[in-house]
Amino acid sequence: MEQFVKGKSKLKKIGKQIRKNCIFRAKNIKNLKYFSFKYINFTMINRINYTLKGLSDTQTLAAFIAKLIQQSKKVNFLIFLKGDLGSGKTTFARFLLNNLGVSDKEFEGSPTFTIVNEYKNNIFHIDLYRIQSKYDMETSGVMEYFTKNGIIIVEWPEILDFKADLCIKFTIKDKFSRIVNVYKR
Ligand SMILES: Nc1ncnc2c1ncn2[C@@H]1O[C@H](COP(=O)(O)OP(=O)(O)OP(=O)(O)O)[C@@H](O)[C@H]1O
Ligand SMILES: [Mg+2]
Repeated sequence: MEQFVKGKSKLKKIGKQIRKNCIFRAKNIKNLKYFSFKYINFTMINRINYTLKGLSDTQTLAAFIAKLIQQSKKVNFLIFLKGDLGSGKTTFARFLLNNLGVSDKEFEGSPTFTIVNEYKNNIFHIDLYRIQSKYDMETSGVMEYFTKNGIIIVEWPEILDFKADLCIKFTIKDKFSRIVNVYKR
């Protein structure tokens, strides 16, 4: 059963229901701001679909996902960011990093050419766009990062033959908005 959350005032009651129903869905992305993580945890997340109407919605989603990651208390947390060129993966990654303690000043930009950008607290931002083959995977040395503990965020993960804890897929709707699907695989 899906749980729709309409406002802040109902959260306490809803929190208890969510715990029972184990799947939740906030009807409006703005409501994600009000979720209390006393009531929600990573295991309850099934599938979330939203339209992101601009960067502030991407920011809201990133803050929510950051809390989920922190709350999961997993030693390794692997996130795949999927979607076409320019669909908003790096933008989301930057906001996610911000929420995990990496400031915009510390943010090193898209790892398109570096392949891996490494941050404090074992956070890695990887972009496999330029990795065309398993041979490239081996020779670039990028595989070793997947054996590390920490939070690993991967753009263009399609070449990998293992699964992530969380997949986030972006689709361009128009110039000003994106559709996002969050799911576990
Ligand atoms: N939610 C959003 N609404 C509107 N525009 C967005 C949104 N998210 C990102 N954009 C814009 O889309 C453009 C491309 O974003 P970004 O670089 O994050 O895409 P990407 O998926 O990482 O691309 P690439 O595949 O080249 O790595 C940027 O100009 C960014 O501001
Ligand atoms: Mg990118």
